[in-house]
Amino acid sequence: MIKFDFENSSINERMLSDYEEVVQKNHLLLHENPDDEKQFLGWINLPENYDKNEFERIKKAAKKIRSDSDVLIVIGIGGSYLGARAVIESLTDCFYNMLPDKKRNSPMIIYAGNNLSPNYLNDLMNLIGEKDISINVISKSGTTTEPAIAFRILKEAIEQKYGLEEARKRIYVTTDKARGALKTLANSEKYETFVIPDNIGGRFSVLTAVGLLPIATAGIDIDKLMQGANDAREKYLEPSIKFNDCYKYAIVRNLLHSSGKKIEILANYEPQLHYFTEWWKQLYGESEGKDGKGIFPAGVDFTTDLHSMGQYIQDGERHLFETVLCVNEPKNDIDVKADSENLDGLNYLAGKSLDYINKKAMEGTVQAHVTGNVPNMMITLDKLDEENLGQLIYFFEKACAMSGMILEVNPFNQPGVEEYKKNMFKLLEKPGY
Ligand code: PA5
Repeated sequence: MIKFDFENSSINERMLSDYEEVVQKNHLLLHENPDDEKQFLGWINLPENYDKNEFERIKKAAKKIRSDSDVLIVIGIGGSYLGARAVIESLTDCFYNMLPDKKRNSPMIIYAGNNLSPNYLNDLMNLIGEKDISINVISKSGTTTEPAIAFRILKEAIEQKYGLEEARKRIYVTTDKARGALKTLANSEKYETFVIPDNIGGRFSVLTAVGLLPIATAGIDIDKLMQGANDAREKYLEPSIKFNDCYKYAIVRNLLHSSGKKIEILANYEPQLHYFTEWWKQLYGESEGKDGKGIFPAGVDFTTDLHSMGQYIQDGERHLFETVLCVNEPKNDIDVKADSENLDGLNYLAGKSLDYINKKAMEGTVQAHVTGNVPNMMITLDKLDEENLGQLIYFFEKACAMSGMILEVNPFNQPGVEEYKKNMFKLLEKPGY
C-alpha cells in the first residue's frame, strides 16, 4: 500500500478544494475515451485490459532467455529504457549484476543504446566476452539513433558469435506494430516481436512489453506488478480530490510551483530507487516542460547526497520543494552492536537497527528542510515489492497527466526533443537535413 501525506507542504485541504472544478474537467477528459488511438491515454486502463496473449508470450520469451543466456542486453533510450531499469533495480539485489551466477539465478541485465559513447560499447562487448547473450531491442519509433547504432553493432557481434540462424532466435524486438525501420528489419529477419501500443507514449510504457520483457527476465513477478498497478487504477478512479491522493499530489505541486517553488526534488533513502527517480524525472520533465512552463524535476539519493547537495537544499536559493519516497520495511535489517572500547563513539546506537537510524536521518532531514523553507510531501510504501511498485508507477503516471493538464500543457507530446536531433543530423550529413 502507498500513503500520501502533505502536512509539511504549507498547503492545506481547503486550498486544494479551489481546484475541484478544473480537476473534475480534466478527470472527464482523461476518462472520456481512453482507448482513442490518437489521445495517448492507453496507459489509463492498461493494468486491466492489457493484451493477455502478448503477456503470456513475454513470459515465455523471458523463460527462454533465462534458460539460454547469461546476459540480456536491453537496447533502448528514454521511455524505452528507464522504466525497465527502474523496476529491475528497485526489486533486485543492490549488487544484482555482480552476484555469482548461482546466487543471481537470472541473467545479468546490461543496458545499451542509451548513449553514443564508444568507451561504453567497447567495454560492454569486452564484459560479455564468452558469455551467452540475448538482445531485446526496444524503440517505439524504430528510428532513434542511439539504440539503432547500438543494435547495428551488437547485431553483428551476436551474428558472429552464434551464426545467423541462432542469432535470430536470441534477438527480441519491441516496437510499433507496423511502422519504423526496426519493424521492417524485424519482419525481414523474422525476429520475435512485441508491440508498443499506438496510444501509449514512451514514458508511459513501462507496463507494456517495453518494460515487461526485461523485468520478467530478471525474475520479477510481472503478474504481481500488474496487479499492483490495477489496484492503483481502481483506487485513483475516484473523481473527488478529497479521496484521490494522486490528484492531491498533482495540485500541491502546482500550488507550490505558483508560489515560486520551481524545482521538485524527489528524494529517496534507498539506493535501489536511484533509477526509479530517473524514470520519474523523465516522466515529469518530458510531460510538463514545454511552452515555457514546467516544474523542473530533480532527484537525490539520501543520505548520500546530503553530503553533496544537502548544503544547497538547506541553504541555497529558496525555489525548491521536496517529495520523499519512504519505504517502511527494509528487505533485511542489521543491528549495530555494542563495542567494549567504543573508540568510534557509536555505542549510543548499540541495539538500534540500521533502518531505524536511516529513518531518523530522514525525519531529521525533513524537519530541517521544512524549517529551511523547503516544503515537503511524503509518499510511503509498506515495502519494496512488485505490488507496491506497480501502485507507485500508476500513481505517478496519473498524477503526471493531471498535473500537466492543470499546468495547461499537453502532457503527452515532446516537441522539444526533436531540436537536438535536427542539428545532429545536419552535422552528420544525414540525407534530407
Ligand atoms: O517518452 C518518450 O517518448 C521518449 O523518451 C522516447 O521513449 C525516447 O525518445 C525513445 O524513443 P523510441 O522508443 O522511439 O526509440
